[in-house]
Amino acid sequence: MEIMVFFSLLLLACSVSTNPIDTDIENHDQQISNQQPCPQDIHDVLRELTASLTEQKSLTLKQKVLNNDISLSLSATQVAFSAFLMNQGTGYTGPFPTLFTLIFKRAVTNIGNAYNQHTGIFTAPVRGVYHFDWKVYGKENIQAGALLYRNGEKISIAYELPTSGGVSASNAASLLLQAGDQVSVRLSAYSRIYENPDNHTTFSGHLLFTM
Ligand SMILES: *[C@@H]1O[C@H](CO)[C@@H](O)[C@H](O)[C@H]1NC(C)=O
Repeated sequence: MEIMVFFSLLLLACSVSTNPIDTDIENHDQQISNQQPCPQDIHDVLRELTASLTEQKSLTLKQKVLNNDISLSLSATQVAFSAFLMNQGTGYTGPFPTLFTLIFKRAVTNIGNAYNQHTGIFTAPVRGVYHFDWKVYGKENIQAGALLYRNGEKISIAYELPTSGGVSASNAASLLLQAGDQVSVRLSAYSRIYENPDNHTTFSGHLLFTM
């Protein structure tokens, strides 16, 4: 703003001094020599203006870098996991008369180690929005249902009742979690799921962004 005012004033000063009021030749000559510095001044000012704008741009850039540094240090938290129900073999899990926390024993990906393959529980390392999906596989007329839980709160269910053969049920949710919040998948009461080395039954989660 200051620069613009200064620049306008200079232009004004220049236009005034270039105005040939004096008709006296000697004076006029002198005036011409006096006028000379004006376009020169404009160039100087333009240079100054450019330099100043460049400086301002680099200041803005510095500020951006600074801000980015802050968000970079936050988003440096990298969280992603995918786990399969079984390490090996084939078999059923359930049915049980109550909810049963599924332990997806084989973590194929576990960046950030927020998922615990011994307990089946994911613990949010930072406040942020996380995406989860899970899938269960059931067979032979016994319901296959599994619920996503945030701490003690039921979020949603993946559910199927296989009438014949095998069926898959899946669901997904993006959740805002506080640091320390726990997410797990629980087999619903009287459900039964089946697993073999094909990795039908999975649980995955990713940090989308911190907040
Ligand atoms: C299931 O997962 C195991 C362990 O990661 C892998 O060795 C196997 O090939 C997977 N099975 C299929 C059908 O992809």
